[in-house]
Amino acid sequence: QGGLVPLAPVAGQADAAAQPRERLTVVYGSQTGNAKRLAEALAAKFEAEGLPVRLLRADAYPTRELKDEHYLAIVISTQGDGDPPDDARALVEFLDGKRAPKLPSLRYTVLGLGDSSYPQFCAIGQRIDARLEALGAQRWVARADADLDIDTVATPWVAQVLAEGKEALKARSAPLATVTPLRPHLAAPVAWTRERPFVAELLTNQRITGRGSDKDIRHIELSLEGAGLDYEPGDALGVVIENPPALVEAIVAELGLDAAAPVTMGTDTLPLRDWLGKRREITRLSRPFVATHAAHAGSDALNRLLAPDQREALTALMADAQIIDLLHDHPGAWTAEALVEALRPLQPRLYSIASSRKAVGDEAHLTVAHVEYARGDATRWGAASHFLAAREEGAQVQVYIEHNERFRLPADGAKDIIMIGPGTGVAPFRAFVQEREAVAATGRNWLFFGNPHAREDFLYQVEWQDALKRGALHRLDLAFSRDQASKVYVQHRLREQARELYAWLENGAHLYVCGDATRMSKDVHAALLDIIAVQGGKSAEDANDYLNTLQTQGRYARDVY
Ligand code: 2AM
Repeated sequence: QGGLVPLAPVAGQADAAAQPRERLTVVYGSQTGNAKRLAEALAAKFEAEGLPVRLLRADAYPTRELKDEHYLAIVISTQGDGDPPDDARALVEFLDGKRAPKLPSLRYTVLGLGDSSYPQFCAIGQRIDARLEALGAQRWVARADADLDIDTVATPWVAQVLAEGKEALKARSAPLATVTPLRPHLAAPVAWTRERPFVAELLTNQRITGRGSDKDIRHIELSLEGAGLDYEPGDALGVVIENPPALVEAIVAELGLDAAAPVTMGTDTLPLRDWLGKRREITRLSRPFVATHAAHAGSDALNRLLAPDQREALTALMADAQIIDLLHDHPGAWTAEALVEALRPLQPRLYSIASSRKAVGDEAHLTVAHVEYARGDATRWGAASHFLAAREEGAQVQVYIEHNERFRLPADGAKDIIMIGPGTGVAPFRAFVQEREAVAATGRNWLFFGNPHAREDFLYQVEWQDALKRGALHRLDLAFSRDQASKVYVQHRLREQARELYAWLENGAHLYVCGDATRMSKDVHAALLDIIAVQGGKSAEDANDYLNTLQTQGRYARDVY
């Protein structure tokens, strides 16, 4: 009986220091929920084997326990430009900092999640892996870096950690019956998933930017009637997409292949056309694909671009060029099989839901920026936004709900909220304001919105103005960046309102940011730090702690992409 270790329920409950540490601690940092899902799956597997395990979200991990830890598995994603997920920011800062302890008795493993279209692919997982090693810890199972087709890499990693866990912890583990379930509802069946999506009817597809706008932004309404799909403000809708048929044909023609030729991959045989149209990413370039194509094309130019000091040039290429452009500009021979093998599986795309069910019933609304641009004589599209923009009313779209527990309205409706959502980042805030009105929340709602031009790009203008009149929205601050000589962004408006904003925070307001991850959310974060430092009379470090604390309390949430 000696090795019995009670499990901490989910997060936060620091165990008494006297408890033995022969157990696996699983810590996750997750922005969109994938890392969380995998960490839960790993913990559930340990549990099912009767192996002692505890599962913690990174911001609930008591870092002072790190030095007593023996087995640690970290599952963590990397955001856009090499950033940690918000819930892991403090943990990453701690590990990087001077206060991190030596860890001679720790065995650890890291599963990194990322997107290889970005140069900083899995950078955070790699950084943690290197840092733990530098602190004297031993790598227990080799780090794995998972791309968008997460399970290809994650499943073997989970299996290996489980196998090692059985070796290391079995002898000391508790009898099965005494293990309390981590989260009993985990096993509850979910009706519609990415593997089994609901077929929704498209009810509305309306351009909501003016004719003269550079942007083609769509308001999309989908019917969820009969689905029993339950979502809350803050959740995202997963959309199963297909690629533009014209692009499929262009790639096939470029390579001189036969679109009808059957291609077998694993147990599936499909015509090449269907592989490219329905099963593979054919818009976004990834570094691995560039590398494989460089070999196929025997291209010195491409090989040079893959050198470590050419990172920026490669990023610039990947921002503009798609797979078809690479194939065209650097000709090389491919067989259909090799091509299907080298391309990544086509992933569903997530869109923040722009409606509250309490206001719209069995519908989900989306705000979608249609990505469409010219490259030479050709038109290039974003796969998902074009898929949606091209659908007409009555079309069928496969969808599922992706819950986002990290982006939630305050449970207490009396709390104020501050919403910062330029561009399509405004989507979840339409849901928030609808919901708060529907439940007659008494807290105040303050929205910061920005876009290029007031006349063309003021998304949902009439709705916001009506909401102001009804008292459903209390403050609206606008940043139309190109309506004057110099750029005005939401963070400029934040700074202008520094005193008021800080007063709202001190009064318990919840703060939300949604939209662009590469620049906007960073600039907004920096503005918030300055505002807190100046208004609160704090040092930069204390302002950072203040914001980290808000985040840990669920009072500073970001949904950025
Ligand atoms: P711009 O395109 O005129 O530079 C939504 O895309 C809005 O966000 C646009 O008005 C855009 O301005 C603005 N934007 C661009 N970069 C930004 C940044 N770093 N911070 C905040 N807003 C930004």
